[in-house]
Amino acid sequence: MLHNNIINRDLEFKQLPNEQTDKVLKIDANYLHLNIKQKLDFSKTMWNKKKLSNPNAKIRLATMFSGIGAVEFALKRLKLSTKIIFASDNDKFVKQSYFENYKISEENWYSDVINIDGNKYKNKIDLLVGGSPCQSFSMIGKRKGFADTRGTLFYEFARVVKESQPKVFIYENVKGLTNHDKGNTFETILATFDELGYKYSHKILNAKNFGMAQHRERIFVVGFLDKSNDFDFPEPIELQHTMQDFLEDYIDSKYYLKEKGVKFVTSSKNRKKDTLKLMGI
Ligand SMILES: C[S@@+](CC[C@H](N)C(=O)[O-])C[C@H]1O[C@@H](n2cnc3c(N)ncnc32)[C@H](O)[C@@H]1O
Repeated sequence: MLHNNIINRDLEFKQLPNEQTDKVLKIDANYLHLNIKQKLDFSKTMWNKKKLSNPNAKIRLATMFSGIGAVEFALKRLKLSTKIIFASDNDKFVKQSYFENYKISEENWYSDVINIDGNKYKNKIDLLVGGSPCQSFSMIGKRKGFADTRGTLFYEFARVVKESQPKVFIYENVKGLTNHDKGNTFETILATFDELGYKYSHKILNAKNFGMAQHRERIFVVGFLDKSNDFDFPEPIELQHTMQDFLEDYIDSKYYLKEKGVKFVTSSKNRKKDTLKLMGI
């Protein structure tokens, strides 16, 4: 890809006056530098290949806004054994797929996070993970933040942390949460975490740096009950696959937008609308 990029630039040079050629060269030098730097970073980190000190340990895991259980699956992929203490989601189809994928009893499933009594699980959870709905903070939504009831669901997560006292919590959300309302929303969220008495760190991570062929930036807040814990966010690892590996060569024409649809989404009127409105969400 880098190679192609340089070839394309070469072609462009022939049509550019000198001062512009300099600019393009500088951009390429930066581009190369970034790539070399990233390669060096990759070589010093292989945390995903490290041996576990206690491979037989079972992590007592609880999730809120569980969705299809991405966290549950990620731990499985890392060959970490888990016992699901509880999970919750208010979508009935989500529940259906969750129950197909993971071992959980009906009494440990909550169809609304407001019904979770964290006191019932006090000191019985090792890891509590939750990513409350992100639409109110997302760059492609109306960004109403806490003014949208979905935004306030964050407080339910904080409440359950306070009540259940998990050893570790991970709160995850869209990158837009960090700059929403000029950063005030995130400040409020961090102030709430401060009150919980946990030692926490936060960082925006990109899925493409952690084994997924997708540019997906998310804010992660990781908190430890044991304040002596010396946690550091993991370093990037090299991608083993690109999207190209997953794309099929032949796609049935039924999956393509018809001419009318293409005209609709590319019309100048609709290009000004945000994606969600266009999709009718
Ligand atoms: C951003 S998604 C989380 C996706 C999840 N991390 C996964 O692995 O698929 C938010 C989820 O919260 C659920 N949700 C929204 N309001 C809820 C509520 N009051 N109680 C429980 N779940 C809720 C939605 O149905 C959605 O699946």
